[in-house]
Amino acid sequence: MPPRLVAPSLLAADHGDFAAGVRAVEESGAPWLHLDIMDGHFVPNISFGPQVVADLRPRTRLHFDVHLMLSRPDRYVDAFIKAGADRITVHVEAQHDVAATLRAIRQAGLPAGLALNPDCDPARALPFLEQVDLVLCMTVFPGFGGQAFMPSVLTSIRTFDAERRQGGRAFRLEVDGGINAETAALCREAGADTFVAGTAFYKAADRKAFLRSVTG
Ligand code: DX5
Ligand code: ZN
Repeated sequence: MPPRLVAPSLLAADHGDFAAGVRAVEESGAPWLHLDIMDGHFVPNISFGPQVVADLRPRTRLHFDVHLMLSRPDRYVDAFIKAGADRITVHVEAQHDVAATLRAIRQAGLPAGLALNPDCDPARALPFLEQVDLVLCMTVFPGFGGQAFMPSVLTSIRTFDAERRQGGRAFRLEVDGGINAETAALCREAGADTFVAGTAFYKAADRKAFLRSVTG
């Protein structure tokens, strides 16, 4: 299992002052910044696009963990690579040739991730495990921050952790949605190692202590 880490989600920051949101992550010591990209079609919300990512890039050396919630992620992979993404995750449910999109991300030299919604059968992702560096199990239906964690997803997390062990694979197992100290403990027990946290991170009075409570 890779070392555990937290990727605070900028979605929960003040969208009028993303630079301050990034500084808060840097000051906390978290190594990654999770960037939620929403198109108003794959999910019922619109967040921000490649220009925001490009403008934040020179301000920080945080690892940009880009989560594309787009119906056609294949059409935007290049734009986010140019904008400064360090890794890109796409959804298995989106309208694209999943294998080709994952290949394009890796051919550009970036780690590739595959995301699944809470109601998605893990079997849909299994054919792609050789092509991924990260599996993202959504623990809420994507679109909005601040939703309640869905414990039903723990079964999928266990499935991917078992696949990883049996197949001798090294992909990260990321969880996203409703993550706080309590729900992170459940995810750790199920095998997750990479924790996206939006609302709970930005609301925490002591963010360093919050990160420790998530990684355990
Ligand atoms: C949900 C996004 C998440 C979101 C998590 O659509 O993919 O990354 O920012 O936010 P919290 O931690 O508030 O559930
Ligand atoms: Zn996300």
